[in-house]
Amino acid sequence: MNAARKKQLAAQAALSYVTEDEVIGIGTGSTIKWFIEELGARKLRIRGAVSSSEASTTLLKHHKIDVVDLNTSGPLSLYVDGADEADHHLRLIKGGGAALTREKIIAAASHTFVCIVDDSKLVDVLGQFPLPVEVIPMARSYVARELVQLGGRPIYREGVITDNGNQILDVHGLKIVDPLSLENTINQITGVVTVGLFAKRPADVLIVGGDEGTRTIERAKARS
Ligand code: 5RP
Repeated sequence: MNAARKKQLAAQAALSYVTEDEVIGIGTGSTIKWFIEELGARKLRIRGAVSSSEASTTLLKHHKIDVVDLNTSGPLSLYVDGADEADHHLRLIKGGGAALTREKIIAAASHTFVCIVDDSKLVDVLGQFPLPVEVIPMARSYVARELVQLGGRPIYREGVITDNGNQILDVHGLKIVDPLSLENTINQITGVVTVGLFAKRPADVLIVGGDEGTRTIERAKARS
């Protein structure tokens, strides 16, 4: 089975978390594209969606789903998004699509974060996928030098400007054995807007699409 079909299966399985008449958070990427298409096709009557990127906003509008500002939506019950890597504790690397800052904000504002991936994304230790870091443009070289001190090899993602007007460094060569500590450390570097590590706020549910269909991993809930 190809990766696209596995992503589609995970997206279909996530529909069971959607409650009609609610505003939900929606992420960014090719897996989420499937989710939005499934939402549109099944005509599930959600009240609207808070979108994590201009790309997802365009797609949502195409499917006639209202896009709602997070400042007026109030707390969200559900956020659905993909990831670039996930470990078995549901900690994630995100930001391959450069939407990490808005994704992190929506995840923080949501009660339940359902992450949908194909099985190639599930790893024992995060870091094979280069870790995206969104930076204020004038701080890019300074932040890069600090990331080298942490043992990484930052590469400037040339030609990419985030929806917030910032730039991305992709950090290669990190073996992330303590994701929470690394997230905190990188967050402390002046000029960093967001690091694409989701350990402080991991997913609550991970739906993995594979050859045998989907499997769901739930994190013991600390939040109520
Ligand atoms: C965007 C993201 C995406 O969730 C991540 O890149 C996964 O993308 P895809 O579903 O296309 O594999 O973090 O910033």
